[in-house]
Amino acid sequence: MTGAPDEASSSDRSVDAIRRYYDDLGEEEQDRLTKDVAGRVSFEIHHRFLAQYLTKGQRVLEIGAGPGRFTTVLAQHGARVVVTDISPVQLHLNELNVTAAGHEHAVEVRRTLDIRNSSRFPDESFDLVLAYGGPLSYAFDQEHHALAGLLRIVKPDGVVVASVMSLWGSWRARFPGATQLAIRYGTDITDAVVRTGDLRHVPGMVHVCRMFTWEQLTALVTDCGGEILSGSASNWASLEDQTVLADIERSPQLWERFLAYETAACASLGARDGGTHILVAARRRA
Ligand SMILES: C[S@@+](CC[C@H](N)C(=O)[O-])C[C@H]1O[C@@H](n2cnc3c(N)ncnc32)[C@H](O)[C@@H]1O
Repeated sequence: MTGAPDEASSSDRSVDAIRRYYDDLGEEEQDRLTKDVAGRVSFEIHHRFLAQYLTKGQRVLEIGAGPGRFTTVLAQHGARVVVTDISPVQLHLNELNVTAAGHEHAVEVRRTLDIRNSSRFPDESFDLVLAYGGPLSYAFDQEHHALAGLLRIVKPDGVVVASVMSLWGSWRARFPGATQLAIRYGTDITDAVVRTGDLRHVPGMVHVCRMFTWEQLTALVTDCGGEILSGSASNWASLEDQTVLADIERSPQLWERFLAYETAACASLGARDGGTHILVAARRRA
């Protein structure tokens, strides 16, 4: 890892805490993108964004695969997948779920892996590297090293697809909690969170992560020798009235039309900072 020794050990401690968090969370992580209508929109946005880069027969490294929602998607699109996660519990759930869905044949191997260290893979090993649901937000000061590693292991025409937690989108989506921070802990804490995106500034916060703006994410990609292919928010209008959204979902025709509009809105430059996550596709600069 890069960085000064104390920086590295602070990063290690944070990653350890997140591994324990996901080990303890266990099956609760499974229904994050199915249990409510906004979650189902998030799944659709992530799925459609990823599908643009999938072709049959690709070798894919999935990082932070969790319980396997996108492992299954990759298998359905004909990929061979190296499935990894920092949490052994999530990896075990991944195996159970992917097997139950009848897609275990698509899994080349399953391993624990920390996104900060992909050095075990040779250069240009994968057609696509997928890190959905935040692994880059859990690299804690090592995101440059982590992303540079991912760009190293994709083929020259390969793609890194990732989603990170959004700073301004979280501010919008979790408005009551976010504004309570200043009341409970004072403006120094909120200033530090807004300045750095780092939730480790909040005393006692268990689920910590680094949130990004679109500008910071694009700068990270450029600094690591990559170029942006596309970007998107997740979600945009679907963070608004959940009752209206549930009504729309009941009509297959309206739902399909809504998802088409929502996908277009999320991809627009003006919306990229406005959802709970920011999605990015990047490749190595020639
Ligand atoms: C929110 S879940 C996302 C799961 C799945 N990718 C999805 O989008 O449904 C985040 C996953 O990232 C894993 N993770 C957290 N920190 C990581 C790290 N430093 N390296 C690799 N995986 C990590 C967690 O264990 C968890 O399974």
